[in-house]
Amino acid sequence: MKTLLECITIEMQEAFKQAGYDEKFAKVTLSNRPDLCEYQCNGAMAAAKTYKKAPAMIAGEVVELLKDSACFEMAEAVNPGFINLKIEKKFAADYLNKMALDEMLGVSKCAEARTVMIDYGGPNVAKPLHVGHLRSAIIGESIKRIIRYKGNEVIGDIHLGDWGYQMGLIITELKKRQPKLPYFDTSYEGEYPKEAPFTIAELEEIYPFASAYAKEHEAYREEALKATYLLQNGHRGYRAIWEHIMRISVADLKKNYKNLNVEFELWKGEADVQKYIPSMVEMLKDGGYAHYDQGALVVDVQEESDKKEIPPCMILKSDGAALYDTTDLATLVEREKLYQPDEVIYVVDKRQEMHFVQVFRCAKKTGIVRKETELKFLGFGTMNGKDGKPFKTREGGVMRLENLIREIHEEMYKKIMDNRTVPEEEAKRTAQIVGLAAIKYGDLSNQAGKDYIFDVDRFTSFEGNTGPYILYTIVRIKSILNKYVESGKTPEGISISAAQSECEKSLMLEAAKFNDVIETVYEEIAPHKICAYIYDLANAFNKFYHETKILTEENEKLRESYIALLMLTRKILETSIDLLGFEAPERM
Ligand code: ARG
Repeated sequence: MKTLLECITIEMQEAFKQAGYDEKFAKVTLSNRPDLCEYQCNGAMAAAKTYKKAPAMIAGEVVELLKDSACFEMAEAVNPGFINLKIEKKFAADYLNKMALDEMLGVSKCAEARTVMIDYGGPNVAKPLHVGHLRSAIIGESIKRIIRYKGNEVIGDIHLGDWGYQMGLIITELKKRQPKLPYFDTSYEGEYPKEAPFTIAELEEIYPFASAYAKEHEAYREEALKATYLLQNGHRGYRAIWEHIMRISVADLKKNYKNLNVEFELWKGEADVQKYIPSMVEMLKDGGYAHYDQGALVVDVQEESDKKEIPPCMILKSDGAALYDTTDLATLVEREKLYQPDEVIYVVDKRQEMHFVQVFRCAKKTGIVRKETELKFLGFGTMNGKDGKPFKTREGGVMRLENLIREIHEEMYKKIMDNRTVPEEEAKRTAQIVGLAAIKYGDLSNQAGKDYIFDVDRFTSFEGNTGPYILYTIVRIKSILNKYVESGKTPEGISISAAQSECEKSLMLEAAKFNDVIETVYEEIAPHKICAYIYDLANAFNKFYHETKILTEENEKLRESYIALLMLTRKILETSIDLLGFEAPERM
């Protein structure tokens, strides 16, 4: 379905053509003087140069032709040659009725569906999740939903960090605590126990302990590095421990991400792609791409046009160990082999940008990915505390994700209990739903690349540009619609008719922008623009709500039109928050 802007642009192009001017001048934009008009066209100013005529004259000729247009209730030429436009009320209402009937609310699917992989989440197994992982999960999930909404095949991959030093640390500490376990007995040839030698709670304690201990004790650190090496080189017992760690941690991660309303199609990790490394290294050497530099195997990725130095991509350390670059390249080998994506998008902390520049260049240059495969790095900024510094606990440690979420839920619960008297159980559930919206909206309403301040008080507020405000608006609409149905009316077959007031018209014009906004959001991969839009829409709705008798309107046709407009507004808001990755409660 064409956007409203496209519809009126076509009308404007016709008028320009008929008046004898090139239609390229008929560009219509949103008005920057909302007090005077809703849309505007400045094309007469540009056309004036080409046709050597006064702009006011051109504008005058064009508006003359728009007099009987069904699109515009006003088309006015103003000096020195602007065309100010107001949309015909009936035209806007008809447009909304078409939107309401469309399954996608007027958004068109892509002409050609593409396969897009999104690498996001990226937690490190057995290490606590921190707030950086939260951003990746929130932004990645929203992007995934947006790209999917446009009709593409989207595969989200969590890309676990499951092959690193943390595993060696855990193995080393376990050996110290329980040396008699069969995993550490090299002569043991039997089956290993099915039951893990630790619970998730123990695992969560072991890693930070071992990590801190290794920092102080050289010999311990050496041992952990050795254990990492042995694990990576096929030690049977260590592999069995690793499998226990994976099983237990991944179950816990699944629970955590589920609570965040984040869902991955693939639960792959760094360990899964180690098998591709030997042949990949061979290919890099045989193809003449890789060379040794001070014992390390590297691929140069510097390009002539670079203004700064881009260090080479590191394939193998001098001791033969694979690195972060290697694993990401091997992951691309697998992605090409199994999924042939048209595009891979990485949602990772922007401080890792250089790593991805190196990996992308190396993958392209060496043919690991096809020329046409698009590799995109979507770097996000840091989430800071109110002091503007990276988020810390009160004690100054790294803030763990679950604590942050708990803090929000508690604050939300307090507010919901203060607000009105809902039963306690319901308040708890509602606090979780609204709390998640507060976190996600607080994050997504900022441009992803920017740092932002995580402000619990502001994010949980029911007023202002916040998640709870949006949800509150949806709940308000739902409640009106429920009352309408309870009064014995059925909303089937009702439609929107021409606006009766300025505030109703504003709401209509806001609603009509939905498909246009989604188009931009998709092209620019910019979820923050959904937030900006639904904030405007919610404001327009609330103004309408305060100025209009809806359920008590006596004229039945009018009342039905209001209800139809509310239904559409609700659908737009609900679709939008679903694209952002959260939902609305029934009451709050
Ligand atoms: N696990 C990494 C970290 O915590 C993030 C992984 C990002 N994705 C990737 N393909 N490298 O920093």
